[in-house]
Amino acid sequence: MNCKNQKVLTSTFEKEVCEGLSAFPKYLSSKFFYDELGDELFQKIMALPEYYLTRAEYEIFKTHKSDIVQRFDENQEGFDLIELGAGDGKKTKVLLHELLNNHFDFTYTPIDISQNAIDGLVKNLKQEMPAVVVQGQRGEYFEVLDRLKHMSDRKKVIMVLGSNIGNLLHSRAIQFLKKLCNVMHSGDFLFMGFDQKKHPQKVLDAYNDKTGITAAFNKNILIRINKELNANFDIDAFMHWETYDPESGTAKSYLVSKEKQTVDINDLSMQVHFEAWESIHTEISQKYDDTIVKWLTKESGLKIVKSFSDQNNYYKDYLITKA
Ligand code: AVI
Repeated sequence: MNCKNQKVLTSTFEKEVCEGLSAFPKYLSSKFFYDELGDELFQKIMALPEYYLTRAEYEIFKTHKSDIVQRFDENQEGFDLIELGAGDGKKTKVLLHELLNNHFDFTYTPIDISQNAIDGLVKNLKQEMPAVVVQGQRGEYFEVLDRLKHMSDRKKVIMVLGSNIGNLLHSRAIQFLKKLCNVMHSGDFLFMGFDQKKHPQKVLDAYNDKTGITAAFNKNILIRINKELNANFDIDAFMHWETYDPESGTAKSYLVSKEKQTVDINDLSMQVHFEAWESIHTEISQKYDDTIVKWLTKESGLKIVKSFSDQNNYYKDYLITKA
């Protein structure tokens, strides 16, 4: 199998599926989880008892909303609030309400890889908070950052919540943070959520819930390949598998083939062979501590101003500026 010598692959999805499934060991990027079904499953994940991340961040916002928004715009000069990976915006609404109630002058630009998520959020905000000036945009993190540079010359607060940065390896995270640093001016803020290291079982359970929603979420990438690239993955012939290494703080998701099998991906003119128990690595969800976050920010020309934690210290949001 080879991605060359084949029909011209136009979309990123086609190219990356071909590359990842031709590699050894096999891999697929977790950014492809998020189509309509993936968004729906992720909503369900966020409500799972095992998935503590969303509740912890919500608790942080509820508890510290006043301090957080005051720090965003201490001099009341007005600012643009930009959120990368906004999703359903449930947690962000806590901050938006606080900003509105205190008459801050701000605009809100939610950006997400999923057009479906953006459309839903913009529609919802128009109904729920008509006073907020909202301008939704679809885009991938890295590509969007180039656009941000030319957005406006007002003060910027860029939010990346939900420990979304955890889906990037440290090297990619530093590239991403450096790019963020590049679009920031002195006085701008980055407000970023980092899930913290904790009891390894707690992390494993969060990514391996009893009801199997996370398994369905992981397998959705195969359903998507079936639908969009005319393939014939037998979804039941794969199982979801999660690992967590407390040393590196890396949780990893895999899809493991339960049997020797061959899959046809017709639109890529490709056959993929799996040995029994061969894996496809699909996602990392990195866990952090203060030392790692300090190191990541320092490497990227940034510095931490303040951090906010939930009562259990499961999760932290860091307020960050240019160094
Ligand atoms: C979006 N991202 C930060 C989630 C995470 O925790 O890595 C995605 C997720 N994957 C499985 N459960 C949730």
